[in-house]
Amino acid sequence: MTSADVLILGGGSGGYACALRSAELGLSVILIDKDKLGGTCLHRGCIPTKALLHAAEVADSSRESENFGVKTTLEGIDMPKVNEYRDGVVARLYKGLQGLVKSRNVTFIEGEGKLVAPNTVEVNGVNYTGKNVVLATGSYAKSIPGLEISGRIMTSDQALNLDYVPASVIVLGGGVIGVEFASVWKSFGADVTILEGLPHLVPNEDISVSKALERAYRKRGINFTLGTKFASATQSDTGVEVTLEDGKILSAELLLVAVGRGPNTANMGFEDNGVATERGWVVVNERLATNIPGIFAVGDITPGLQLAHRGFQHGIFVAEEIAGLNPVVIADINIPKVTYCEPEVASVGMNEEEARAAFGDEVNVYEYNLGGNGKSQILGTAGFIKLVAQKDGPVVGIHMVGSRVGEQIGEAQLIVNWEAYPEDVATLIHAHPTQNEAMGEAHLALAGKPLHAHA
Ligand code: NAI
Repeated sequence: MTSADVLILGGGSGGYACALRSAELGLSVILIDKDKLGGTCLHRGCIPTKALLHAAEVADSSRESENFGVKTTLEGIDMPKVNEYRDGVVARLYKGLQGLVKSRNVTFIEGEGKLVAPNTVEVNGVNYTGKNVVLATGSYAKSIPGLEISGRIMTSDQALNLDYVPASVIVLGGGVIGVEFASVWKSFGADVTILEGLPHLVPNEDISVSKALERAYRKRGINFTLGTKFASATQSDTGVEVTLEDGKILSAELLLVAVGRGPNTANMGFEDNGVATERGWVVVNERLATNIPGIFAVGDITPGLQLAHRGFQHGIFVAEEIAGLNPVVIADINIPKVTYCEPEVASVGMNEEEARAAFGDEVNVYEYNLGGNGKSQILGTAGFIKLVAQKDGPVVGIHMVGSRVGEQIGEAQLIVNWEAYPEDVATLIHAHPTQNEAMGEAHLALAGKPLHAHA
């Protein structure tokens, strides 16, 4: 098949979700990828990194087991074995995804695609056409001008495949990738220093969450400098040397560059065929349509949050849009975010600063400390759940920090996206003893009837 209703370039989270949903809706689909189906998320991002983070949690548990009266000795980290476990997880999911795509009759074409006309993508000399074209080519790990990625200076792509635990690492960038890798390496026994140019770690989060993470990292012995920009780096056979703009020099075995991801849109014929881009990002309207009729773009190549689940939702949205189902517009602000470091960070909706900018004094904020939560005490984690609500109105943001709080994001996103009032949630029952009770307690308090909370 060389022509279809939906022609998708890129088989990552956005592209394959669009393919599956389109097929479900009875549309014919061609899906093109130069690499493995599943993209960054499955092969180089979310899934393999979370497997490493789980291994890191196991290492921490054995290191701290004495606190719980369990005698174990952490002998060390067998990195090839950790990687084998990680690869096993990825391989099983990859196989499942391939089966799924096949069973829905999606035509998968492996090869590098290029847009050669507004309705045509060329792959290895063959032209494929679509009544609709969906660009879903994803993102790549960026570096800083002048900082070449090679040898001991690496991005998450190389860091993920190390077959040893470095003795020391400098992590450039205290955003999501930076704090997650810092967390893994510290748990595996490395000496870690994060360099963040802005005043806080995870600077896109509510400032109280950033501060709590900084406290926790200090306690874990993870070093960081905040508010100082990186100036330069050199490497030798034995290590890297990093100079900051204030003249400070640091050295380590490796340097991880985690300064953001850029859109994969160069040299694929997008601009040549009139698709409007801005600094590499494909410009789309709120219905994910580009300026060229019949061409849509989804996921990381569109400006906004770069998250796999945003890509999935974009893909589903475009499939439904093409099928004429008039799907609901996806607002970035209410997309849940989880950073899987230890302790975890999870949030959805407006942070306090954004809510105050939008509603002035008409904002209520409540922070429920996990110290009052039984299960969190059992796990030995500190942290909190912070609610941001409009006065006499709905909850507009939920911000959490603490071990395993990522698991609370499901209810949190439901509350924010369904515009629930604190009173609505306060009447619902949260099972005891779970960390989820903290969500209930926070809403009880904001509804004016705190239970396990000090005044
Ligand atoms: P990021 O944008 O989250 O963080 C990059 C950090 O580097 C920023 O805090 C920035 O201030 C800092 N920075 C930039 N230039 C600097 C300089 N010259 N000196 C010092 N600091 C500097 O990007 P990151 O962490 O690379 O992640 C890329 C994308 O992947 C993000 O959009 C992230 O959300 C996504 N991702 C999501 C994950 C999740 O949902 N758990 C996991 C990993 C990545």
